Amino acid sequence: MTDRAHLSLGDAQYEFPVVEGSEGERAIDIRDLRQRTGHITLDPGYANTGSCESAITFIDGERGVLHYRGIPIEQFAAEPNFVEVAWLLIFGALPTAEEYAAFAADLTRHANLDEGMKHHFEGFPRAAPPMAILSAMINALSCFHPELIELEDAERFRMAAARLISKIRTIAAYAYRHSRGQPYIYPDPRLRYVPNFLHMMFAQPYVEYDCDESIVRALNLVLILHADHEQNCSTSTVRMVGSSGANLFASCAAGVCALWGPLHGGANVEVLDMLERIHGGQLTVEEYVRLAKDKDSKVRLMGFGHRVYKNFDPRAKLLGEVAEELLAKLGVKDPLLDVARRLEEIALSDPYFVERKLYPNVDFYSGVILRAIGIPTNMFTVIFAIGRLPGWIAHWWEQRSEGSRIARPRQVYVGNTGTDYLPMERRS
Ligand code: SDX
Repeated sequence: MTDRAHLSLGDAQYEFPVVEGSEGERAIDIRDLRQRTGHITLDPGYANTGSCESAITFIDGERGVLHYRGIPIEQFAAEPNFVEVAWLLIFGALPTAEEYAAFAADLTRHANLDEGMKHHFEGFPRAAPPMAILSAMINALSCFHPELIELEDAERFRMAAARLISKIRTIAAYAYRHSRGQPYIYPDPRLRYVPNFLHMMFAQPYVEYDCDESIVRALNLVLILHADHEQNCSTSTVRMVGSSGANLFASCAAGVCALWGPLHGGANVEVLDMLERIHGGQLTVEEYVRLAKDKDSKVRLMGFGHRVYKNFDPRAKLLGEVAEELLAKLGVKDPLLDVARRLEEIALSDPYFVERKLYPNVDFYSGVILRAIGIPTNMFTVIFAIGRLPGWIAHWWEQRSEGSRIARPRQVYVGNTGTDYLPMERRS
């Protein structure tokens, strides 16, 4: 197989190197294209453009494969441990027992927020969108930890990573408690990562939250399955912002904003709204599928389709299983799960979806699980952000460690030419 790409422009002939990744992906390296040819490429949405080389996550969209640092995600399902996977993504290998114990102790030690941050929560309206609060408060963390703004060495980076991963739970829980006018529940140092989050979310003063082990297991796996996903919109945003030299807190706060969008992490909220509209009788499953196929309706089958997966999203498969198992263990019958299964069945036999290779994605079943845990719909994307945070941190540090250039795409200008300034009185 050739390792050079040939380009002819007019009478000129050019050759560009072809790079090959460790899983056999091939890319034409065009970093000197404009300098040599005077041309740039045009690729709206970057569907054909690699922004970097990365060793963190690999997706094979055609085969429905997802690996974290080379490990298939299915292998994390037996004993799901989100903290262990966070370490793997950020530091490149599964933690030893000592590394794990030290990291877990750091997460426990740094779960509290500075008491001064509580005033910020009080300043938000009760109905404030939790993703707005999350982004604002992650940014605010840098005001309370100025020593972690400049991360000049790996040790300081590790401290910042641990504080962010620990405190995002507390910020999320406090946002939830504030929205309900409930008192904030301090983190309990006796509890592990996920049980401590559930404690802060659902305990009451002097009333312990009874933490069902099947819920802890399910939420660990939900967070693991959201932990990283190559150069998705929010991770690319974190890299873009970080490439300017912006600190880790600012970069992750920007990632939260990108994730909020309904085409990205916000889809898990849209999926629940869709399932509830169908279950509530506003539309039948068949009517909704018909609308989703009709371009003029502007309706999409939320939780379906993916830029990379042109086969089943392996996360959706696992989350569908987790939903069934958790509801059975909790003795809960959720009609929305039946609606989701029915939607999936109809869509996967409909030529419109089959021809476009539209399958359920990570957002299709996650909401049913979070609902069974008692997490309200408007907190679903916040849970996605808690899961995705280690991936954002890993990419930010990979980029920072490589000393990459500031990200600054080009464009093709199609606006006015030869235009002069007109005084106000001569404008029509
Ligand atoms: C996430 O990138 C990541 O990795 C993201 C993510 C991660 O872990 O970070 O996996 C998380 O964001 C998952 C996706 C969540 N979003 C949704 O579920 C929203 C519904 N899905 C779509 O909006 C869409 O599928 C996207 C946004 C996910 C992908 O968009 P693309 O790749 O730009 O695809 P497209 O919009 O160009 O669609 C191609 C065709 C179009 O039809 P034609 O013009 O070819 O006739 O498929 C159609 C689209 O109309 N289509 C859909 C559809 N998704 C695509 N039609 C109906 N329902 C859908 N859901």
